[in-house]
Amino acid sequence: MVTTAVIGAGLMGHGIAQVLASTPGIVWIHDVSQAALDEAIAQITESLDLLSRYGFIKEPAEVLGRIRTTPRLAEAVSDAWLIVEAATEDLGIKQELFANIEAESSRNAIIATNTSGLRLTDITTKVTHQDRTVGSHFFMPAQVVPLVEVSRSKATSNQTMDTIVDHWEKCGKVPIRVERDIPGYVANRIQSALVREATALLRDGVASAEDIDMAVRMSFGLRYLVSGPLEQRDLGGLDLHLAIGREMWPHLDTTAGPHAFVEKKVAKGELGLKSGRGFYDWDGQDPETVRRNRTEALVSALERLRTPPGRHAAR
Ligand SMILES: NC(=O)c1ccc[n+]([C@@H]2O[C@H](COP(=O)([O-])OP(=O)(O)OC[C@H]3O[C@@H](n4cnc5c(N)ncnc54)[C@H](O)[C@@H]3O)[C@@H](O)[C@H]2O)c1
Repeated sequence: MVTTAVIGAGLMGHGIAQVLASTPGIVWIHDVSQAALDEAIAQITESLDLLSRYGFIKEPAEVLGRIRTTPRLAEAVSDAWLIVEAATEDLGIKQELFANIEAESSRNAIIATNTSGLRLTDITTKVTHQDRTVGSHFFMPAQVVPLVEVSRSKATSNQTMDTIVDHWEKCGKVPIRVERDIPGYVANRIQSALVREATALLRDGVASAEDIDMAVRMSFGLRYLVSGPLEQRDLGGLDLHLAIGREMWPHLDTTAGPHAFVEKKVAKGELGLKSGRGFYDWDGQDPETVRRNRTEALVSALERLRTPPGRHAAR
């Protein structure tokens, strides 16, 4: 039986386990918290129900039946050919975990990390066979958003890269190769550049939070479904790109680090949805319900993209 494992059963880990369970084989989830393991199964059950209502999954019970949980690391990884680490974003925890996973798993197993901002090179300092380590960065919710950024350190072998890219494709994801071990991979760097400018526009009173978000969603956000930013430049013409760059880029925000007004918001306890106020007022709204509705809207949009008009799944 083909076995894989996910370490860390939180927001990302349960989604990654669900992705792995889309192909035959056992998927172990390990966490130091039994409560997190129980919650992961509840979340996966709910998510499978949503995805099957929209026609993305044919046999939700079969997918769920492939998933096992354990509070013992060795039980999760001993038979696994692929182990995806999705534990708390802490270098010390990840370094320790990678060393323990290598000690408890088979000598050919590939060990991947879903870290958002740490370098694979730093996470794997205590690992002997670094050629079998790799980054696999998912976006939340991992079971819905197609992209996986597969990244390498200098030690990662070509065979490890090829094997993991191939496996995420088999799981129905869209992997890209990130050939250098840099913070933020590709997508988060681009997203961070966008968010820095968006918050600067808000800080300077150029437009409201609602209007800034709408500007992105209803213009290039929509267009990006068809062509990315580089193809867009080719369509518009690189001469025009140069003219805009010369005229506009000197006026763009280049603040190093987050803006002071956002630091002040956080100091006041304005953390966004979870505290009831951030850039928006979320007072009185249940965070779980808001997140669930956003995920369903995303799944519904994906379904509309892939289904010809008039052929949407009955619900
Ligand atoms: N949340 C996101 O949007 C997002 C997106 C992409 C990547 N990531 C990355 O994914 C990883 C997990 O993030 P998350 O949001 O799921 O965090 P989370 O806090 O929801 O879950 C982390 C889980 O790891 C467990 N854990 C901690 N130490 C452990 C250990 N030694 N062994 C086993 N389990 C352990 C915790 O009990 C917890 O259940 C982080 O590296 C994060 O940077 C997060």
